[in-house]
Parts: sequence; C-alpha cells; structure tokens
Amino acid sequence: MSYPYQIKSFEEYQSAYAKSLAQPTEFWGEIASYFTWRKHWEMTLDWNFVEPHVRWFMGGKLNITENCIDRHLKDRGNQPALIWEPNDPDEAHRVLTYKQLYDKVCQFAHVLRNNGVKKGDRICIYMGMTPELAIAVLACARIGAIHSVIFGGFSAQSIADRLQDAHAEFIITSDGAYRGGKDIPLKSIIDDALIACPFVKRVIVSTRTRTPISMIKGRDVWWEDEIKKIETLGLHDFEPEIMDSEDPLFILYTSGSTGKPKGVVHACAGYMIYTNYTFINVFQYQPGEIHFCTADIGWITGHSYIVYGPLSAGGTSLMFEGIPTWPDASRFWDIVEKHKVNILYTAPTAIRSLMSFGTAPLEGKNLDSLRVLGTVGEPINEEAWHWYNTNVGKGKCPIVDTWWQTETGGTLISNLAGITPAKASYATLPMPGVEPVLVDEKGEIITGNNVSGNLCLRSPWPSIIRTTYGDHERCRTNYFATYHNMYFTGDGAYRDENGFYRITGRVDDVLNVSGHRIGTAEVENAINMHAGVIESAVVGFPHDVKGQGIYAFVVYSGDTPADAHLSRQDILQTVTRVIGAIAKPDKIQFVSGLPKTRSGKIMRRILRKIAEGELEQIGDTTTLLDPGVVEEIKAGRV
Ligand code: PRX
Repeated sequence: MSYPYQIKSFEEYQSAYAKSLAQPTEFWGEIASYFTWRKHWEMTLDWNFVEPHVRWFMGGKLNITENCIDRHLKDRGNQPALIWEPNDPDEAHRVLTYKQLYDKVCQFAHVLRNNGVKKGDRICIYMGMTPELAIAVLACARIGAIHSVIFGGFSAQSIADRLQDAHAEFIITSDGAYRGGKDIPLKSIIDDALIACPFVKRVIVSTRTRTPISMIKGRDVWWEDEIKKIETLGLHDFEPEIMDSEDPLFILYTSGSTGKPKGVVHACAGYMIYTNYTFINVFQYQPGEIHFCTADIGWITGHSYIVYGPLSAGGTSLMFEGIPTWPDASRFWDIVEKHKVNILYTAPTAIRSLMSFGTAPLEGKNLDSLRVLGTVGEPINEEAWHWYNTNVGKGKCPIVDTWWQTETGGTLISNLAGITPAKASYATLPMPGVEPVLVDEKGEIITGNNVSGNLCLRSPWPSIIRTTYGDHERCRTNYFATYHNMYFTGDGAYRDENGFYRITGRVDDVLNVSGHRIGTAEVENAINMHAGVIESAVVGFPHDVKGQGIYAFVVYSGDTPADAHLSRQDILQTVTRVIGAIAKPDKIQFVSGLPKTRSGKIMRRILRKIAEGELEQIGDTTTLLDPGVVEEIKAGRV
C-alpha cells in the first residue's frame, strides 16, 4: 500500500502547494475522502480570523480511533502498531499489534464507560510513557471524552490549575513513572492536586512502579481491577462514539505570555487529517517503517507524531519511556539498532546534549536502518545540525526541521524528506495549505526575500486551534488580535533568497527551554509567591544545551537575603512546587530594584542584554526612573 496523497517530487510539492491555496476546499476535501467517515461532510470550510471562527468538514461524522485502528485491522492486524521500549534496557520491550491495540483500547473504553465517563467529559491523563498512556488517550477518543494530557514534570499546583480550568472529573494516572534514574511519584502528586479539586469523581491508577500509594475508597480504582471486571462481563468490542467533525478531541495546556497556561482545543476531523497528511509527507513515511519520535505524549509532538499521525497512517510507532542519557549516552543508538528504526524525530536539545558526549557512544552501533532524521521544538543551531547529519545520519539521511506549535496541531513549515531541499537551521518551505507571511511591528506585510519579521499565517489549515478552553476571547486576543486577519505565531523568522524560512525564536515573553515552552510571567508569578520576594523579572539567555536558560532578577525584602545561596535554593523549591522542575531558573540574581520607566514598566530589553552578557549594548537608559540600578545589576551579574 502507498499513500495516494504522498508528494513524490519537488514539482508535485509545487503543484500541491499552489492548489492548496487556490482551491483549499477541493484540495483538503480530496485528502479527507481517503478516511473513514460515518457521514460525509456537508461543507468543507467556513472561517474568519476576526472572531475567530474556523470550521472544517462541517456536518461530517467520524471517530478518530476508527481511522487510527479499526480501518487497519483487515490488512495489517498483525503488524506492530506500537513498540514500547522501557526505561531500563534490561526490561523486556513490548509490542502491540493493531489487533492487540484494538482489543486494549476497546477494553479500556469499557472501563471508562463503567466508571461513568460520557461523551464530552474532560479526562486528565497524568502518566509516564507506557503503552497504557497511548491506550488511555485512544480510549478517551473512542468514547468521545476530551483528553487533557499533563506532562509528568508538572507539579500538583499546575495539575490543580488545569483540572479546575477544564473541570475534569476523571483522572487516569499511574502509581509512579520511571524516567532515567528517577522514580516520579505520579499518584502522590495527583493526591496533592486533588486537595484543591473536590469535584474529581474517579481516579484510575495503572501499575508501573508499584510504589506504595494511597487509594481513597469510592474515588480511586486500579486500572487492572477495572479491566478484570470487563473481562468478567465478557465485553470486547466497543462501538465508537460518533463524533462531529468539529467536536473537541483534546485540550492541551500550553504557556503564553500571560501568567496562566491556556487550554488549546483541537477538533476531531481537521486534526486527524492534517497530522496524517504531514506525517506521511514530511517524513515520507513508507508502510512497514519504524518511526521513533522521542517526545513525551505530554506535549503536542507526542500527540501528533507518536499517536495520531503514525496510527492514522497504519504505521509503526516506537515509544520510549526513558531519556537519551540513561543509563548512558548510547541509549538512543541502542534503541535504533535494536528495533531497526527508520525515522528518528527528536529535539535539538537532545542532540546538543548527546553531542557533549562526543562520538564515542555512537561507536560500534549499527544505525544503517535510519532513513530520515527530524528535529522539532526549537531552533537548531548549525553545529548541532551538522553533528546530527554526519554522525547519526552518516550524511545519507535527509533531516527535516519541522516548525510548528501546540496551537497548529501539526507541522506547518518543513522540508519534505528527500523531496524538497534541506538547509541547515532552516525549516524551509510551508506545507500545502499554509500561507506564512512576515509582518513588521505595524502589521504591514514585508515582501521580497532576505527579510526578517514577525511570522503570521494568513489562512486556516485543518488543524488550527479552534479555541482556548472556556475562554474564546482569550484565543482571539492571543493569536488573532495583534495583526488584522492573521494568526500571529509569536515567532520571528527570516526569509532567505530562495524563500526558505528560518525561525529565529519567540518575539513575545515566552521562553523555549529544552524545547519546553515556559512563559516568563508564569515563572515570575511563582517566584513572587515566595516569602521575602517583593518582585521579580524573568528573561531568557542563550544556553549551550537547553537553547535558552532562565535568568531571574529578584528584589528581596531588606535588599539581599542573609544567605543568598540558601535563599536561591528556597526559591527553586517554590518554583518547583508551583509549576514544576522544568521551570526552575538557571540563574537567580538578587537586585535592589528593577530597571523601570517612569510609568513603572520593567525594561526587559535591558535585563535581556545583561543576562546575555552583552553589557556594552544596553542602549539608552535615560528614560529610566533610576538609571543607577542598571550599573548595580551589571556589576552583580551571576
Ligand atoms: O518558537 C517555536 C518553537 O517552539 C514553539 C512552539 O512550542 P510548542 O507549542 O511547545 O510546540 C513545540 C513542538 C511543535 C514555536 O513557537 N519551535 C518549534 N519547532 C521549531 C521551533 N523553533 C524553531 N524551529 C523549529 N523547528
């Protein structure tokens, strides 16, 4: 089997691209016709970017799990759908064929129904990277419940905020998770979160680490016991809930420039079609290949390119529980060799971190199976790109640099492996259906090549964000209000002489630390909760491995704390409690005041320069209320 809409040459890309913009409804309608629908759609697209209002395949009825599982059973029931590689290389890996995945998803969908879950209910999933996580996600989709996966690195407080925002009454978790040398006590973190969420009715707990945990009678049940009940009842198939194209499929919380993470909502049909299309075209996936995306399903990359994209294409998706450097820096290469991985899709941070170990961990590893390499999540520097190309791809694997966001659902700008040209550190060309433009501060479109600007998108692709959960106005102001009639990405970009795009990084107050999005306001709010802190300002600075590090300037009551080292540690504890360890500042500098304008606005530009070590390029400080504070901050730089 091949994919009828797989682009096979640069010319085909050009004609697909031209058609996608000239006749978007015909273009996407034809691709959609290859999927399984319970009822054909009545209208392909209706949109405006003012409200905003975007609807694709209106009136269509489907269930994404029928497309991801059922439709493959006849021809590839015995083919692996998921290969799971555990954290510990000495533990056996697991394989789930499409038939086995079908059985498990149906079984767990019955468990959900037995526990009172209905279509439209929000279910929070807080699990490690085990097959049960993928099963839970798919079972939610099968019953029509809206999943909201929360990354295992978030704190109880962050979970509680998300549970409250989504009013999620159901939780699926595990006793614990293994990640490298650490055990993460997931259930105990959930228990802390639930103190603030009495509305949660049911917590389903799967066994992984079998650490002692509290189980509250009437609320908490074991996954395995619930499965036994379904077996006893003799229940097998689970008729999928028939969903409308525009019914929400999931919510995924992500950071923005304001303090509170927002729940990005994706809709069933458009998300399915676009993740499938980009999976097949960007990676040039061939049936039977092993696709290894190293992301966590707690992030959008895992949703789109571990679960929904590969499975909707009838592919084999490898999921890995651990981290690249444990038990040593050969772990990825061992996995590639062991499972004969064909496509490796990872983050620049992982590449840079592996680069720091040199090439010894790669020695003697057979990476011949690799055909395509990919990167995602942050700009890749040329050095890392070349290292990846030479040492991992041996100069023969195209590298796709995929630019996209939680809000875009799937890749928007990327080369197509081996089909369109690659260029180190460039995402290159837009996918069909994607109309990027660069605009200046005033919103004027910048034409021509060799230009930089703020990256916007002019027309909707099928998996564009539909709303921010419970607050549509927030969706409008965040993405559609900065520039008229455009979706604003928050990123800056450069367009070269060939029209290739290079993403230069965020132009708003969002940091990208190890490929994780963190809002500076969120970190400031957390630091400001710490006793003794009067105020703070957080900026990013270049970090060799993480891409960006977090630098916090903190005003402490009574000037500086008596024991600065201890107070820094205390503040890190508070940030870990409030957000999670991923948001811990790398540097904390205590200052007597922050550089502010007379109207009280913090001049972040100055703080950014200081954090970056560009002390000579601070620029004009005469508009500051107290220019003297700048000298003090420069002198005290950590
Ligand atoms: O700044 C861009 C960066 O990651 C941001 C989106 O983060 P998130 O929603 O967490 O999704 C990450 C995975 C898709 C973007 O606004 N980003 C993502 N991919 C790239 C990138 N920056 C440069 N190059 C990329 N390939």
